[in-house]
Amino acid sequence: MAVVAYAPASIGNVSVGFDVLGAALAPIDGALLGDRVEVHESEQAFSLACRGRFAHKLPDDPQKNIVYSCYLGYAEALQKKGLTIKPLHMVLEKNLPIGSGLGSSASSIVAALEGLNGFHDFALDQDEQLLLMGELEGRISGSVHYDNVAPCYLGGIQLMIEEAGIISQSVPDFANWFWVACYPGISISTAEARAILPKEYSRSDCLTYGRRLAAFVHASYTGQEALAAAVLKDVIAEPYRQALIPGFNAVREHAAAKGALATGISGSGPTVFIAMTDKEKALEMKSWLEANFIQNQDGFCHVCHIDRNGTTVSKIA
Ligand code: HSE
Repeated sequence: MAVVAYAPASIGNVSVGFDVLGAALAPIDGALLGDRVEVHESEQAFSLACRGRFAHKLPDDPQKNIVYSCYLGYAEALQKKGLTIKPLHMVLEKNLPIGSGLGSSASSIVAALEGLNGFHDFALDQDEQLLLMGELEGRISGSVHYDNVAPCYLGGIQLMIEEAGIISQSVPDFANWFWVACYPGISISTAEARAILPKEYSRSDCLTYGRRLAAFVHASYTGQEALAAAVLKDVIAEPYRQALIPGFNAVREHAAAKGALATGISGSGPTVFIAMTDKEKALEMKSWLEANFIQNQDGFCHVCHIDRNGTTVSKIA
């Protein structure tokens, strides 16, 4: 028996919800935008192979790979339940670029843990898995935040609650929105992009943040598309991080001129996202970004919908 888990790319923050709002992405052309992890039976306790477009950027030593940390974390969680991890071989298909702002580490972590869980008859429940995913993501980025792992795992737009025993709950998305996501090809470390943010914010910024996040969630629930789009603005991270992304202002200006609903930084960048309602215009935006924002052969652009499925696990031969 072997299983494969696919975990989609995600937009952390979605501009209005620093660390507490995230959205999973699915390219409208059916392209794969997420990592896959296979788990196979084996005679050895653990082995790992890597493949995929961005596998060459991973550490050579398998024990330094986040998938190995997932294996250890999952084994420990099973042990706490009186269960034992089976000997297994894992294959990480690394399709997302590291340090892209597309939830690359979250995608590997979620695919690895859900692949392991599928291989062990889903011995851990959803909350146990999500807690483990957050903990492992925190080890990479320097602090526990669920805004990539939760949408990647559960799908849709997720709002982090982290109170009353609830980690995350979903917020409805606008089915007619296209999310143009463009990765320019350079890398930004999340830990570094967090380190440049102020330690404290003014009362006025705190109020603006709370007001816009509440307005976005309210507008999403009441179907007020124009209001949701109008408040998709960030006072917490974007003012400080935009300088790390060459060409960001030009993208914002061009998108506004082409009638985009909103432009923002995906997670800690450098990927940018542009929300639009017209498919043709979204495809034109993709072409413009490919010509004007992508800096090297690692870059790419996809026109996406929100991925409502999240992570999927299936059996393979
Ligand atoms: N919320 C996190 C940040 C997401 O912006 O630092 C990182 O992808």
